[in-house]
Amino acid sequence: MRIDVIQGANLNMLGRREPEIYGAQTLEEIHRGLADLGRQLSDGGDLVELTFFQSNSEGALVDRVQACGADVDAIILNPGAYTHTSVALRDALLAIELPAVEVHLSNPAARESFRHRSLIADVVAGSIVGLGAIGYQLALQALVTAHRTRLAVERPAAPG
Ligand code: DQA
Repeated sequence: MRIDVIQGANLNMLGRREPEIYGAQTLEEIHRGLADLGRQLSDGGDLVELTFFQSNSEGALVDRVQACGADVDAIILNPGAYTHTSVALRDALLAIELPAVEVHLSNPAARESFRHRSLIADVVAGSIVGLGAIGYQLALQALVTAHRTRLAVERPAAPG
């Protein structure tokens, strides 16, 4: 299976950016850890392949979500601050037929009130927040388990 890991605004600054909130690991280190886990989870011919993308631009993130075609099985997404503002990213997630897991290093619910609103949380299969870089690993494990057991990790219907 192939999973696209999509990282939004300012996540390229990890390691230097407010490490007391986001941790000391760089984005490259987080991605290396995910690639290692992908290799561990690869089971014979049943490979877990990961692709990685980061952008600070909302439009580029929308383009990347739209570009997830038949060769991608699921998405791991941390939109950064666009979580709280982007109708366009929300609409892109609704437009594609793929399960997505949203990850946040910090716990937005425990932070400033403007971070409490998410435009993404109700259009993804699930969210993992507040566990630092471990959240990405848990998201990967969940998506691989779901894919292999055909347990439902599905894109929810558009909320009414
Ligand atoms: C974040 C939380 C967002 O509120 C913030 O704007 C980020 C990072 C997180 O991973 O904790 O850029 O998505």
